[in-house]
Amino acid sequence: MSEFLAQIEPIKQAAVAEMRAASDLAALDQVRVTFLGANGRFTALLKQLGALPKEAKPAAGKALNEAKAELERVLAEQRASLEIRATLPQEPTDFTLPGRHRSLGRLHPLTQATEDIVRIFRRLGFVVADGPEIEDEYHCFDALNTPADHPARDTQDTFYLADSENPGATAGKRWLLRTHTSSVQIRVMKRQPPPVRIIVPGRVYRRDNADATHNPTFHQIEGLYVDRSVTVGDLKGTVEFVFRELLGADVRVRFRPHYFSYTEPSYEIDFSSALVRKMGKEWLEIAGCGMVHPQVFENVGYDPEIWTGWAFGFGIERIAMIRYAIGDIRQFYQNDLRFLEQF
Ligand code: DAH
Repeated sequence: MSEFLAQIEPIKQAAVAEMRAASDLAALDQVRVTFLGANGRFTALLKQLGALPKEAKPAAGKALNEAKAELERVLAEQRASLEIRATLPQEPTDFTLPGRHRSLGRLHPLTQATEDIVRIFRRLGFVVADGPEIEDEYHCFDALNTPADHPARDTQDTFYLADSENPGATAGKRWLLRTHTSSVQIRVMKRQPPPVRIIVPGRVYRRDNADATHNPTFHQIEGLYVDRSVTVGDLKGTVEFVFRELLGADVRVRFRPHYFSYTEPSYEIDFSSALVRKMGKEWLEIAGCGMVHPQVFENVGYDPEIWTGWAFGFGIERIAMIRYAIGDIRQFYQNDLRFLEQF
C-alpha cells in the first residue's frame, strides 16, 4: 500500500516540472494528455485505486485527490500565463512610449479662403474656369491689349522661359509663367460664345523678392462677366456683396479710378472694415477691376457693339491675411504646423 502512495509524488512532480517547462499552449496540452489524458500516467494511478484493499482506499484516495487538485491548479496557472504571453507582441515593446495617434489633416488657409470665395460666386451663377500656368505672351499680354512697352512685360517683372525649355515654342512666341489670372479671360472667351460668368482661382508668378507682403508665387481670383447691358453698377453691387459675405457685414467698398489696359473705365477697389481700422488704416487696396475694353472683345471675336462686361482680379493671400490677421505672407508657404494648425 505505501508502495502505491510512493508512486504519486514522483509522477506529480514530473507533471508539474513538464507543465512549467511548456513554452506554449500546444506543448502544455501535450503535457496534460501525457499525465491527465485517458491513458495518462496520473490517470493510470487513479484507475488502480479501485483495485486497492478496502482499508488502503481512503488514504490513497485522499493523496490522489490532493495531487490531482495540485496538477489542475498548476495547469490552469500555466495556461493562463501562456495565454497572456501568446497575446503579447513578439518583439520587445516599451509600453511606456506615447501612443501613435493619427492626426486629422485640414485644408490650408489659402484653400479655405479660395473655397469660400468660390462658394459665394457660385450662388451668383458663376462657374470655375482655369488655364495653364505656363502661358504665352499673347494670352498674358497682347490679347489683353497690353502695349508692347508696358513695364509688366519687362524681364525684371516676368519669368520668361527659354525656348529650349518649351518644345511647343515657335519663333517669336515667348513663353512665360503667367503674371496674373487675366490670361484665362482670353482662353475662355476664345473657347465659348457669350454670355460668360466665370471665376478663375489660380497661381501666378512675378519676379518679386519675398518680403512680408510679396512672394514670387501667389494666388489670384479673376472674375469675368459678359452679357448684354452690363454696367459698373453690376460690378460694384457684386463686389460689395462678395466682400461682405467674405469679410463681414460692416465692410465698406470704394472704387478709385485706375488704369488697366484690358478694362475701360478701370478701378482699384479699396475696402474698409473694423479689422482694417485695427491695422491702423482707413482703406486697404484689395483688387483691380473695370469694364472689359472693347479691344479685348475684338481680340476674342466678341462684337463690342452687342456685348458688355466687367472683370476683376484680386490676391487670395491678401484676403486670407485680412481674414485671419496674418502679418507675413511667407507664413503661408513654410508648412509650419504651428502656423497651419490654427486654421
Ligand atoms: N490682373 C490685375 C493684376 O494682376 C488685376 C486685374 C485688374 C484683373 C483689372 C482684372 C481687371 O480682371 O479687370 O493686378
